Formats: sequence, structure tokens, C-alpha cells
Amino acid sequence: MIEEIERIRLRRLRKSQKIRDLVSETSLNVSSLIQPIFVVDGEKIIEDIDSMPGIKRYSLDMLDDYIQELVENGIIAVLIFGIPKIKDEIGSEAYSKSGIIPRTIRRLKESFPELVVAADVCLCEYTTHGHCGIVENGIISNDKTLPLLSRAALTYAESGADIVAPSAMMDHQVLSIRNALDSEGFRDTIIMSYSAKYASSLYSPFREAAFSSPKFGNRKEYQMDIRNSKEALREIEMDIKEGADIVMVKPALPNLDIISQASSLYNVPIAAYSVSGEYSMIKFASMSGYLNEKDAVLEITTSIKRAGASIIITYYALQIAKWLKG
Ligand code: PBG
Ligand code: ZN
Repeated sequence: MIEEIERIRLRRLRKSQKIRDLVSETSLNVSSLIQPIFVVDGEKIIEDIDSMPGIKRYSLDMLDDYIQELVENGIIAVLIFGIPKIKDEIGSEAYSKSGIIPRTIRRLKESFPELVVAADVCLCEYTTHGHCGIVENGIISNDKTLPLLSRAALTYAESGADIVAPSAMMDHQVLSIRNALDSEGFRDTIIMSYSAKYASSLYSPFREAAFSSPKFGNRKEYQMDIRNSKEALREIEMDIKEGADIVMVKPALPNLDIISQASSLYNVPIAAYSVSGEYSMIKFASMSGYLNEKDAVLEITTSIKRAGASIIITYYALQIAKWLKG
């Protein structure tokens, strides 16, 4: 018995790079990456984001060169976030036809018809209070928010978005958006739902980038509690029933268990969002010289893929594309 077991040598399959490549189970492809982009309403703006070195805010007139660079490096999809000039109580700029996101979609579809354009659907970047929905007596009203999210999604679909991505964590946002899209003839617009979106400290660099921090309270009444996994599966299950084509888990790294369970339980593509805090942790540690940026990013991104994500949304998308090209 002991002899039998001694014949097994797991190190045989690690002997050389070629052997390791031969037996590898997971590969990172540029075609599964989505690059998030911040588009700011205004002119002649290319701004550094202090919380996320290497990522910038672009005004629409300054965006083409960057998109060109993405396309040249093989990136096929972007996820756009808008930063409006004016915010109000009800996030009007999120669903106005002349808002920053509809204009960006039209422009991108004109200049880069092949690019897959996904648009985040939420109110927090557009409201003065910074919450993801309509505030009523200090509470975020689920059902008053739904029609506005649907209006935003419909406006983005009309502007040419391939994918709408509701991220407000309102109950039945997918159902409400699917109904709105279908009744206006947008049966083919894809819904990628932020299904299992946890209330996370790792969103804070994003909130600085998009000026979307809540002005009172936090988002724990609508985003999920990190202690729960059954709830995440329930969220995903509900979204699939409501018509989501792609379901997302977010953040990625603290929730690899959810990605893994979801990918074995459900027959839909799973997207994982490696969020701003995941980007900034690696970026700042490597800027200080204590991490090898490329090794750390490729390791972590591969682990997200291995867990079961078929799509990875990451601020490192362009950089990974360049690294993969060698
Ligand atoms: C909007 C939204 C947020 C993120 C994606 N969509 C911010 C939030 O919920 O506060 C976070 C993405 C990131 O941190 O990279 N609801
Ligand atoms: Zn939001």
C-alpha cells in the first residue's frame, strides 16, 4: 500500500514550463475581459483618478484614442460609467436621452461598430444624495426606483447598447427592465445583472472616481451582507428567473466561493467584477515595490477564471491584454 502511493509523484507534471502548459486547466483570454471606463460630461478632459493610478476620466471628445488602443490590443467589450454635469434628487441625467451615457453609446457605436458596449444602470452617480435609488423619508424606495432604472436601460438600448447592466440591487430590477425592453422592441438587448453584489469596502476608490459616495448612511439596506452565501444564490436564481442573460458576482476576490457555486449550479455565463479596491490594492502595493504587478494580476485574474467566471470585468483589462501579447 505504502509502495503504491510512493509511485505517485505529483511533481512529474510540474517538471518544466512545457509540461505545466500541457496539463494546465485554465487559460486567460483577452476575449473574456471587459474594460470599465469612466466618461465625464464636459470637454477636453483627461483626468487622473487619485484613488486608481493608471485609470482616467475621459470626456467624450477625448475618448477615441483610448478606445482605439483597447481595440488594437484585442479588447472586445467595455462597461461604461457616466459622470454627469448636474445631479438632482431623482438622478434625471441617468435616463435623459441627452445624458452622458446615451451620447457615449451613440458615439462609440458610430466610431467602433464592432465594440461590445455595456452600460451600467444605476442612479448613484446621478443623484445628489449618492444613493442608488429614490429616497423617501430617508429610505431608498425599491418600487419608486424600478421605473427609473427601466427608463435608463431603455434609453441606453435605444442609443445602441449591446448590454445593460443594472447595479442598483433593487428587487425585481431585472424583471422590470426586461419588460420595458421587450415592450419597446428591444428583445435582443442583453441584461448582465449585478446579481450578487455585496456591500463592500472595496468600492471606495470607484466612489472617488465617479463622485458617487452616499451622502448619508450606507448601501447595506440594498447591497448584500458579506456573511451570507445562500442569499447570493437566491439573488442569482431570482435574476435568472426574471430574465437575466448573464449574472454577476461582485467583488470577485472575496467571493470566489460564490462564483464557484454559481458556475456549477446555473447554466448561464457568470461574470465576476474585480472591483476598484481590488485594482488599487495591487496597484499601490506594486508602486511601493512590494509586489510584482504583472505576476499578482495574472495570478488573481486566473484564479477568478478558475473559480468559474466566464467573463471578468477588470480595470486591468487593457494591461492584461498587453501582457498576454507578450
Ligand atoms: C454603481 C456601481 C458601483 C460599482 C459598480 N457600479 C458603486 C457602488 O455600488 O457603490 C463599484 C465598482 C468598483 O468598485 O469598481 N452602483
Ligand atoms: Zn448605484
